[in-house]
Amino acid sequence: MTFQAPALTPEQKKELNDIGLQIVSPGMGILAADESVGSMAKRLTQIGVENTEENRRYYRQILMTAEDRVKNFIGGIIFFHETLYQNADDGTPFINIIKEKNILAGIKVDKGVVPLAGTNGETTTQGLDGLAERCAQYKKDGADFAKWRCVLKISATTPSSLAIMENANVLARYASICQQNGIVPIVEPEILPDGDHDLKRCQYVTEKVLSAVYKALSDHHVYLEGTLLKPNMVTPGHSCPTKYTPEEIATATVTALRRTVPPAVPGITFLSGGQSEEEATINLNAINKCPLPKPWALTFSFGRALQASALNAWRGEKENLQVAQDEFMKRAEMNSLASLGQYEPSTESDGAASQSLYIENHAY
Ligand code: 13P
Repeated sequence: MTFQAPALTPEQKKELNDIGLQIVSPGMGILAADESVGSMAKRLTQIGVENTEENRRYYRQILMTAEDRVKNFIGGIIFFHETLYQNADDGTPFINIIKEKNILAGIKVDKGVVPLAGTNGETTTQGLDGLAERCAQYKKDGADFAKWRCVLKISATTPSSLAIMENANVLARYASICQQNGIVPIVEPEILPDGDHDLKRCQYVTEKVLSAVYKALSDHHVYLEGTLLKPNMVTPGHSCPTKYTPEEIATATVTALRRTVPPAVPGITFLSGGQSEEEATINLNAINKCPLPKPWALTFSFGRALQASALNAWRGEKENLQVAQDEFMKRAEMNSLASLGQYEPSTESDGAASQSLYIENHAY
């Protein structure tokens, strides 16, 4: 028989649950601004900007200092380590700027993906060493939640049962360590969109991966009310010849989630996974309009789909600060509406917002 010694006090549980609920309160989602230095290199190169610490700081300042009403759309921002300790031009720490707006700070705590030997190119995610100490320090420094990204791939031979089991277990270990330190873990088992598989196959794999994740979280005594899930939406592979409607994507996504994610989880915050800004918003809206019962908040934790237009508008020029902030606010507001199922897609096509943000074999 399995046995659980008390892992968390009622006060610890309440704190974790309150944090989770605050981040996903109605109309709110997450800005994922935790691109590693390497990922920022890719983003900045695309707009002809050098990847220096100062340019990364300046760009993040655009997001952090967006006008006050952003607090109606964004409940949490995920930082990369470097950004958590950076300041705005006037010396105010970014973390103080967002806390003033009642936005909670999150921190990426994984240390990236590494190969799993004996698999067909599959990976696990490292970063457990010293994690408890890092979480304790981040909590002192103002972070209330964390992110850890695991990656799974769909092909004829993947995901293997080894990759599913290993990634589920490492996510559960991470989640347990976070909770011991007052940090809400965002559990992110991302299934990449690479491949020509259809919607059904993505749904099947998503169900297998998520059920393994929730089994592992249960085995590790993780307190589900104090977690958030960050999954992929269920979509066809990037090179799938068949096109599906947002309603079909929504039904497949909500069905997979209903079969695997306990209602105790307060919120599901989707990654955008290379969808265009507009596609990600439309699909999130369709998910929220899906008539199946949905016991959790269903919202966004987008990186590319919240930032692509803002980055393009900025292009490294100080005089573009305002337009870049306007673009960011526009996406934040539209995704907020989509998280309530109230987004009305505009009839005129917005060039930049409909551009694919797909990156092959995406690292973060
Ligand atoms: P995308 O929305 O760009 O997929 O990134 C979200 C994220 O945080 C991936 O870990």
